Amino acid sequence: MPGLNLILLGPPGAGKGTQAQLLRADFSLAHISTGDMLRAAVAEGSELGRQAQGHMERGELVPDELIVAMIRERIGAEDARAGFLLDGFPRTIAQAEALGRALGAGGRELSAVVALELSDDVVVQRLAGRRVCVKNPAHIYHIDFDPPKHEGVCDQDGARLIQREDDREETIRRRLAVYHEQTEPLIAYYDQRSLLHRFDAARDREHLHEIIRAELAALRFAEGL
Ligand code: AP5
Repeated sequence: MPGLNLILLGPPGAGKGTQAQLLRADFSLAHISTGDMLRAAVAEGSELGRQAQGHMERGELVPDELIVAMIRERIGAEDARAGFLLDGFPRTIAQAEALGRALGAGGRELSAVVALELSDDVVVQRLAGRRVCVKNPAHIYHIDFDPPKHEGVCDQDGARLIQREDDREETIRRRLAVYHEQTEPLIAYYDQRSLLHRFDAARDREHLHEIIRAELAALRFAEGL
């Protein structure tokens, strides 16, 4: 049976990765984070990682053709056939169009786009205090808003917590500028296609999750998925 095919859209630090961890469990979805995939490619030293690294360090987008090839393969994998949650993709109109073509070719379609809205000042506050698990980047913390039980140590697997390379203030500002220029137009793009669901991401993590979960559950029921 087909499941929900979702996009999480929003500025850096809006909480896409945090909400993805909760929603994937609610709806049994494959969580596909292009940022995590690219950081893994950089760590492995693969050809893709080598081509992506400089762009990521500068807070700029990796070229569309590299990302689209990576995503086309990933959404074709078995676990994504029963529903997926795209986190960090698409980020340009060209990527959104390529996604539409790839899904259409397989007789699939998007169910909804979850747009997380947050002001630039709060983004900077969130990213400057973010820490991630060195072993599993999906384990995300914040030194003030969501601290681990023991400073610098992941609650879930005991590994060390680190600050991401691109979470330095000047790189955060660059990522925000890139978001406004290249990714924000996707809000109108998906609104025109009646797929957009907007949420105020300044709410606390659990409250925000509860609201998104309820709206997606209603959508799934209405569409018989
Ligand atoms: P990527 O890894 O996708 O980074 P991003 O979009 O900038 O998003 P983040 O991971 O920084 O933030 P998030 O929204 O997931 O927030 P999180 O949940 O961690 O991309 C990195 C780079 O890869 C890009 O710059 C680009 O170079 C490249 N790239 C990736 N995809 C690409 C694409 N499609 N095309 C081209 N290039 C691409 O939360 C942030 C912090 O806030 C955490 O500390 C968390 O604990 C805290 N927090 C979360 N929710 C709340 C809450 N409700 N209240 C208080 N604190 C909260």
